[in-house]
Amino acid sequence: MVARFITFEGIDGAGKSTHIAALTAYLSDKGATVVGTREPGGTELAEALRELVLHRRMDGLTEALLVFAGRRDHLQRVIEPALAAGQTVLCDRFTDATFAYQGGGRGMDAGVLAALEQWVQQGRQPDLTLWFDLPPAQAAQRRAAAREADRFEQQDLAFFERVRAGYAQRAADAPARFARIDASRSVAEVAAQIQAVMVARQW
Ligand code: TMP
Repeated sequence: MVARFITFEGIDGAGKSTHIAALTAYLSDKGATVVGTREPGGTELAEALRELVLHRRMDGLTEALLVFAGRRDHLQRVIEPALAAGQTVLCDRFTDATFAYQGGGRGMDAGVLAALEQWVQQGRQPDLTLWFDLPPAQAAQRRAAAREADRFEQQDLAFFERVRAGYAQRAADAPARFARIDASRSVAEVAAQIQAVMVARQW
């Protein structure tokens, strides 16, 4: 079986969850063994760090160090072993989120983040990143209807504009890896866009 590492990205409220479940079903039907995971989190240690990052006050560098510490544990214990076993890993957020949130949102230097990325990942990158892109105002409306806000979700529209720009920069830097999904559309239309990406790659 072909090992694949697929990540899902986008600002809060972009509607990733529904489509992660749908893609898990699609790839499982095709015979893949799918491992679903998330960041921050994915291991006991990284989930403990997630609680700190989402609920304690800290600056952007501290956030970045904690998410990369969790990522290291997650890669070693979950992602790399799954890929080595020929499994498909679907990860709800990964390093592009760090460039978007800590880099774009909090204004952290991208060079520092790139150094941490190299240290922690040793060249490992997703094979495909589905970027759910939509205007921050629309995402905020969806969030308001859906759930209680964490530390990031409480940020203003200007913050999410910077996060969105951070994602756009990462997509421009790695166009072969990124597929932009217009997440402003209906659930059915978004599902069709993801389907088209899979068909184009013959996955
Ligand atoms: P989630 O609610 O989609 O699981 O994401 C948790 C929050 O963590 C989300 O607001 C984005 C943020 N985040 C970062 O700030 N940096 C990161 O590296 C990651 C993976 C997530």
